[in-house]
Amino acid sequence: MKFFIDTADVAAIRELAATGLVDGVTTNPSLVMKSGRDFREVVEEICALVDGPVSAEVTAVEADRMIAEGKSLAAIAKNVVVKVPLTIDGLKACRALSGDGIGVNVTLCFSANQALLAAKAGATFISPFIGRLDDIGADGMELIREIRVIYDNYDFRTEVLAASIRSPQHVKDCALAGADVATVPPAVLKALASHPLTDKGLAAFLADWEKTGQKIV
Ligand code: E4P
Repeated sequence: MKFFIDTADVAAIRELAATGLVDGVTTNPSLVMKSGRDFREVVEEICALVDGPVSAEVTAVEADRMIAEGKSLAAIAKNVVVKVPLTIDGLKACRALSGDGIGVNVTLCFSANQALLAAKAGATFISPFIGRLDDIGADGMELIREIRVIYDNYDFRTEVLAASIRSPQHVKDCALAGADVATVPPAVLKALASHPLTDKGLAAFLADWEKTGQKIV
């Protein structure tokens, strides 16, 4: 499973990219608003830091304008993937942009039928939002499982990009469900590496090593 970072915070991306664990980045208009920075500048900087796909979202709602915005975003860098919402206009834009060889991430997916349409429209990625479904009492992970089965049934190449991930438990369940990618907030990626027994064990090893009086040179 690939890991994308779900943020428009360039400093956080720089820090995590240094681990070699970052396969791509997703942004959205709310994350750009939180960064307080110029959208285009942020996308340029992220694309220079990360070789993998960097999702940049259109804000138009009509297909023609989405296509124009998408082309303009795709011109920023070769690894830009254009994010469009899962609406009829978004699907039309997806078909047109992917026909032009531009990668498309269809976002705000909340049902298996929506995911089926995105795959038929030639999406590179489908983004089902797990956390937001859990928030309303639905089962976000069940959606990942359903999309996996449908895409495998028809051999769709669209990658399942699990989004709206809130916890390490979500990440583990996505991996078990066969998601191709999980896009995670920086804090969740860091939390994946942490375990209290690792900390406790390391402290004990270091304390015992100190007592030997030796040094590794
Ligand atoms: C995905 O591409 C979205 O940016 C993101 O995962 C949304 O997450 P949220 O529901 O925590 O806002």
